[in-house]
Amino acid sequence: MATRGALLIAGGAGYIGAHCCKAVAEAGFVPVCYDDLSTGHRSFVQWGPFVSGDIADSGKVADTIRRYDVQAVMHFAASSAIGQSIVDPQTYYRNNVTGALGLLQGMREAGCSSIVLSSTGAVYGEAGRDPIPEGAAGPAINPYGRSKYMIEQILTDYCTAYGFSASVLRYFNASGAAVERRIGELRDRETHLIPRALMAILGHVTDFAIFGTDYDTPDGTAVRDYIHVDDLADAHIAALERLLGGKAGGTYNLGTGGGHSVREVVDAIRRETGEQVPLVYRARRAGDPPVLVADPRLARQELGFMARRSDLGTIIRSAWAWHQTAHPRIV
Ligand SMILES: NC(=O)c1ccc[n+]([C@@H]2O[C@H](COP(=O)([O-])OP(=O)(O)OC[C@H]3O[C@@H](n4cnc5c(N)ncnc54)[C@H](O)[C@@H]3O)[C@@H](O)[C@H]2O)c1
Repeated sequence: MATRGALLIAGGAGYIGAHCCKAVAEAGFVPVCYDDLSTGHRSFVQWGPFVSGDIADSGKVADTIRRYDVQAVMHFAASSAIGQSIVDPQTYYRNNVTGALGLLQGMREAGCSSIVLSSTGAVYGEAGRDPIPEGAAGPAINPYGRSKYMIEQILTDYCTAYGFSASVLRYFNASGAAVERRIGELRDRETHLIPRALMAILGHVTDFAIFGTDYDTPDGTAVRDYIHVDDLADAHIAALERLLGGKAGGTYNLGTGGGHSVREVVDAIRRETGEQVPLVYRARRAGDPPVLVADPRLARQELGFMARRSDLGTIIRSAWAWHQTAHPRIV
């Protein structure tokens, strides 16, 4: 039974938010899931109450914080498909910046000032460094990354002006699923490599593609740093405990410090599943940098962060177990 008070989990019905709700409950808090279900799933809300609402609705955020006596907020609610952000930037700035301002305003109204923010490796753009330290942020090369960098900076100003305490967690490629298979990646329009490849094996997508084979990388495909979603969840608990313990917040990369190319990941998927992955090759996508690998040393030092489950085998096996039971819709 949770006894340590309530946390508002904005976007807690989504992929990463749901895994964090589980971790929050295991750490003894009540996760109050605040979500508009725009990309989330009601069935993912299993560890605490559900409040249906938009983060832009500051009054509803404030009421929820008061009603549940919320101590701190974890903010996952955002639009996060890079390609879509390029064709529809207004949606991205409205949700990720204006929406997030509503959340922060609601927190101020209700007197709650501690927050852990989901950010992304996309704030680094083509940093040209591998691995990338936190100080190398910007300029991002797509509206999604820019929107996340904007809210990071806004949050810094809230800390200075309004006494907020905040930690910003920049995830690299979140992947994998909770081992008991009740939650995982499930989107109407899936764009991420591992779930799309697994859905291709299952016949749920018919156009799984590798985008770009001419990058300046060892095998010509893009290199990313894959981090298991349960490792991300552990880092959220560590960041939260620091804030609640009165320590200063910070900005932290969450990745393994090592990258895998798209081809390596597809080969590992073949190995782990024993299945062929039907695929086609396409040109590079706009807004995709060649290499994104985290330097996670600061998170190790200050949060005790360890990527315990983020080897490709563990990630793929857990995602495969999830996808075989989830029956994603055809997209
Ligand atoms: N998936 C990744 O690899 C990755 C990497 C880096 C950063 N992130 C960040 O992590 C966070 C969570 O990503 P995810 O992959 O779990 O996405 P997701 O789409 O599965 O989850 C987002 C959740 O937020 C909810 N939501 C969106 N807008 C809302 C609004 N205005 N009001 C209330 N609820 C709203 C959605 O319904 C959904 O439940 C996002 O902020 C994303 O930018 C994700």
